[in-house]
Amino acid sequence: MVEQTLVFVKPDGVERGLVGEIFARFEKVGLKIVGMKMMHADKAHVQKHYAAHLEKDFYPPVENFITSGPVVAAVLEGVGAVSLVRKIVGGTEPHSAAPGTIRGDYAHMNYAYADGPAKAKGLRNVIHASGNEEEAKAEIELWFSKDELFDYKLLHEKHTRG
Ligand code: PPS
Repeated sequence: MVEQTLVFVKPDGVERGLVGEIFARFEKVGLKIVGMKMMHADKAHVQKHYAAHLEKDFYPPVENFITSGPVVAAVLEGVGAVSLVRKIVGGTEPHSAAPGTIRGDYAHMNYAYADGPAKAKGLRNVIHASGNEEEAKAEIELWFSKDELFDYKLLHEKHTRG
């Protein structure tokens, strides 16, 4: 079914100039960008986004990391978009993310190093993507207002939908 999902390129991905390369991957498979913006997420916003993780040991570095610079957030739409985008993004830990995925191709950090020697820095894994449909709905509502989302047709929808 046609779904929408939320992604944001984290400050490491923005600072490394990976925004174009990342969105090219989503566009190449036919996903539609229905909303997109650069923003500096403040602590309150990041706390709402990672509400399920506030009590975890790894949360303070995550907050410092995500608020350390601008992010580029987007809503992507397509058939089975939530799981498709997770597949393209790869596993949370770059070290074990499959080659060919965004995290597997552009990062190599593991949990042990991120939670040990690099503890203050946060797990730099380039991009966030909603984990499931319920999360996607809540995250889209948190990051985008209705008037920031656009309704239009991609050419290839003529071939793939209806
Ligand atoms: S959990 O515990 O499995 O529900 O957490 P998960 O969904 O995998 O991760 C939630 C976000 O926290 C980051 N994370 C970590 N950072 C540092 N160290 C460790 N061990 C760690 N585990 C998870 C991770 O980047 C997740 O954020 P997103 O934005 O999804 O990458």
